[in-house]
Amino acid sequence: LNNGLALTPPMGWLAWERFRCEVDCDEDPYNCISESLFMDMADVLVSDGYKDAGYTYVNVDDCYMEKNRDSQGRLVADHNRFPSGMEKLGKYLHSKGLKYGMYESVGDKTCMNYPGSWQHISKDVRSFTSWKIDMFKFDGCFTEHWKLDKAYPEMGQALNKTGRPILYSCSWPYYFFAAGMPFNYTQLPHYCNMWRMYHDIDDTWNSISAIIKFYGDNQDLLASLAGPGHWNDPDMLIIGNYGLSYEQSKAQMAMWAVFAAPLFMSTDLRDIKPELRNILLNREVIAVNQDPLGTQGRKVLSRGGIEVWLRPIIPRGSSAVVFLNMRVDGTPVKFTTSLRDIGLTKRQGYHVREIFHEHDYGFMHPGDVFECRINPTGVVMITARLQSP
Ligand code: DGJ
Repeated sequence: LNNGLALTPPMGWLAWERFRCEVDCDEDPYNCISESLFMDMADVLVSDGYKDAGYTYVNVDDCYMEKNRDSQGRLVADHNRFPSGMEKLGKYLHSKGLKYGMYESVGDKTCMNYPGSWQHISKDVRSFTSWKIDMFKFDGCFTEHWKLDKAYPEMGQALNKTGRPILYSCSWPYYFFAAGMPFNYTQLPHYCNMWRMYHDIDDTWNSISAIIKFYGDNQDLLASLAGPGHWNDPDMLIIGNYGLSYEQSKAQMAMWAVFAAPLFMSTDLRDIKPELRNILLNREVIAVNQDPLGTQGRKVLSRGGIEVWLRPIIPRGSSAVVFLNMRVDGTPVKFTTSLRDIGLTKRQGYHVREIFHEHDYGFMHPGDVFECRINPTGVVMITARLQSP
């Protein structure tokens, strides 16, 4: 979407995967969907360096509302859980230099049965404008497909007319994919800044490997859609939760960087292990994710359970490469290749650097042999940069 936003993949924090729809604040005040949860996360984003690393959006998802609209048909925040109201929450985030993300759904109801935006788009956009949101995720549960085709462009136009820059995240293609219906993917970059096209992520390596497989199987289409202002969204980072090992956490971060994916953490940042925080804050991986060329990476080789993924980065002609071990059995796998065989063919040679170990391989030519050991469900990630002229 050509609104000047998301020139690199947007980064932030999103409540859903970790905090879901816990609305019982009497039972679980620390983890329920409430203004204090978002304010806590905002505080930690700033105090623990996430904001400085680029994570600036704080996104409310489903379940923030009262079950009914008010007498004038307006959305209202749940009075017990958001006693200060949605506008105040936005003010708090803005006062911390953060951005405010909001959620709604196309149909009569959201996925969790809160009031949806069907036939209320202009009214809801007035509310969002008064709350001063900076990003908007439009979900699409329980809806006929013609309504999705009508509402996504209509919402985009209404957001655009507010005059406020609002990054627009669409779940539009996902609901066609889920129903096994054809979809015109090429329209997406025109209408949305990012879009979901595959199932919700959950807190397992299986879920991550299914997403990686989907990206590999559909890479010609997906890579053709991605670029500055418009990104494929493989869903949230689940690093810091319960389902991933340390190796798998690095693998998610590395693959999301190669995918040029939006990076929305969904974890309890108040309580995260330092080694996992360091993955989320790794400047070199983030730099690959945020590379200004905005080219989505592709799988270039698959051999014996090892996948090699390559993303073009600056200076032009350079690449980030992820060696991903998809085998869940066994021990670390030794992988040997020439640079040429994985697509690094420039005669002048590359400066090769391993990202997570901050190890320099030094200067290498296309004919040179590159060797690494890749842990089960883990990655080795390198950058191979040409000297800038
Ligand atoms: C489905 C979406 O894909 C999820 O990310 C989340 O927003 C839920 N709906 C909320 O109900």
